[in-house]
Order: sequence, then C-alpha cells, then structure tokens
Amino acid sequence: MQEKNITTIRKEFAEEVYGGLTDYPKHLSSKYFYDERGDMLFQKIMSMPEYYLTNAEFDILSSHKEIIVDQFEKGAEHINLIELGAGDGKKTKILLEHMARRKISFKYTPIDISQNVLDSLENSIQTELPEVIVAPRQGTYFEVLKHLSTLNGSRKVILFLGSNIGNLLHPDAVDFLSRLQEVMTDEDLLFVGFDQKKDPQQILDAYNDAKGITEAFNKNILLRINRELGGNFNPDHFKHWEVYDPETGTAKSYLVSKKQQSVDIESLGLEVSFKPWETIHTEISQKYDDEVVYWLASEAGLSVSAVFSNQDKGYKDYLFKKKQNESDLE
Ligand code: AVJ
Repeated sequence: MQEKNITTIRKEFAEEVYGGLTDYPKHLSSKYFYDERGDMLFQKIMSMPEYYLTNAEFDILSSHKEIIVDQFEKGAEHINLIELGAGDGKKTKILLEHMARRKISFKYTPIDISQNVLDSLENSIQTELPEVIVAPRQGTYFEVLKHLSTLNGSRKVILFLGSNIGNLLHPDAVDFLSRLQEVMTDEDLLFVGFDQKKDPQQILDAYNDAKGITEAFNKNILLRINRELGGNFNPDHFKHWEVYDPETGTAKSYLVSKKQQSVDIESLGLEVSFKPWETIHTEISQKYDDEVVYWLASEAGLSVSAVFSNQDKGYKDYLFKKKQNESDLE
C-alpha cells in the first residue's frame, strides 16, 4: 500500500473521468486537482488574502495550542498523531513544536495522496523540528484507515484540518467520520476543522479571487486530463464559476463551456461534446454551523468534547471522541 503504483492511480483517474464526462450533468472529482501543478496552485490559494480559511485555523491553533495539547495528552503515555491530507503542515507545525517543547512522547504520521507533498513535509520537519519523529504514509484516506486500525498501544489523535471535510456531501461525510470512528478506541481523539457559514460574499470571494488563481486551480483538472489521458481541452474555452447557497451552506465550483465544442480524450477513446454553457461540476466546499456538525458527529457515533473558534467565529476546530454506548452510561 505504501507506494500505490502509478498504473492503478492512472486507471482510477481514467475510469472516473470517463464516468464523469459521460454522465448528465457532467462532473469531475476535486480529488484530482492535486497533481504537482495543483499542489503548487493550492499553495498559492492558501496565501491569498481572500482565502481566509488557512489564517483562521492558524490563529486557532496558535492561540489555543496549550489547551488543545492538554486535551491530546490527558491520560496518555504516548501519542500517535495522525494527519489526514497533511499538505505542507504549516498549521500542524504549531502543534508539533509545542508538543516537542513540552517533551511529550509522540510520533507524527502525516498521510497524503501526494508523495511529493510528503517528501517535502518530512524534509522540512527534519530541519525545523529535528526532535520530532515523522513516519509519513502515502495513500488515500480509506487505504490508510485500514492501516490505522492495526495501530494499537498508544493513543491515536487523528487530525483532519483545513475544512477538507467540506469536499464531501453530508452522507459521505457521515460515512467517512463513521469509518474513522470504527478505527478509534475510547481513548482516541479526532480533531477536525469545519469552515462556518458566514457572509456569502466573503465565501464567493474566497473561491473566485480577482487574480484568477482559483480559476487556474479549477481548470488544472482539464490540463491534467490533457497530460495524463491525452486530452485536448482548451481551458480558455471554459469559464470558472462559483455559486454559494447560504441556506444549505454549499459552495459549488463549475467549469462552464463558453461555446459548442468537442474534446477528444485519446486514451479513453472518447469524444466529449459540450453544448454552449453546459457545465462540469468540479468541487463542493461545504460550510457548516454547530447544529450540522453535532448532527454529523452523532450520526457517525462521535460526540463533541471541545470546540475551538477563531476571533470572528468564522472557522472552528472540533475535538471528537467515540460516543459512549447508552448502556455504558448507566
Ligand atoms: C482543500 C478542500 C479545503 O474547498 O476550501 C480551495 C480546496 N478549492 N479553493 C476548499 C479549494 C478552491 C479547499 N479544501
């Protein structure tokens, strides 16, 4: 599992692209945004002023690190700190640094689909925080979950930051959280970032920046199809479009065909035609409130044991544990 081979990844990508572009309405999965160029563009997104999420979570971790780490540590001899979708670890390093300073016995296991990302994360931790033990694992969350269930003996603290959960529709989020819950023991903890409902304009600006970085990020999936599957998409013939529904809290990204066109994808033996203004749905970025988060948790067999907010309460990190059985409470 460690090194899932390129051909398997290519095959899954090929199958999903085929399925999505022959479906009606058309769709592609945002998990394929993150190739080398996509990682670089997301890095740029995180540093744009409009993309408030990163700073908000950075502020939460910086200002509450003592209490957060108290909770992680309480009653545990050793901690296995596992991060799903670790990325560049910029936020996590606040916790790592603090845990190292407190001489807490722990190991850090970052998990990411991109080996690229893991390599540079491991390197940067080795230079910046040489006392921290790092054991990266490459794979999708679900593959790695299987591995997690075999880790016993020390408390698992699972991190899922950045509102990455927002890419999942509620039923998928419940399913995902349930699967995490299943590999957790009563001692384990789950720490998850949820971007909150807020001024709809602020959300639209975050996902439709004036410099077009998010546009390039969204369109990167077309370039990836060109590169990896022999497609001939012209990204200029599509428009990046973002909508946000303040009622449901769902932000959705689309690529909208500016004209009648057809695109060949050689290795799929597929010709896809687009009517003028036909859409490809590419991403959802769900926004939450406490009610929805408590509901998701409860559906997944988790209970909320602490909530940490930034200054304007536009972003929150929730600490979950396994829900106690009714019968255990008697
Ligand atoms: C990495 C999934 C949290 O949805 O906010 C950023 C990805 N998409 N800009 C998000 C993203 C467009 C991001 N997540």
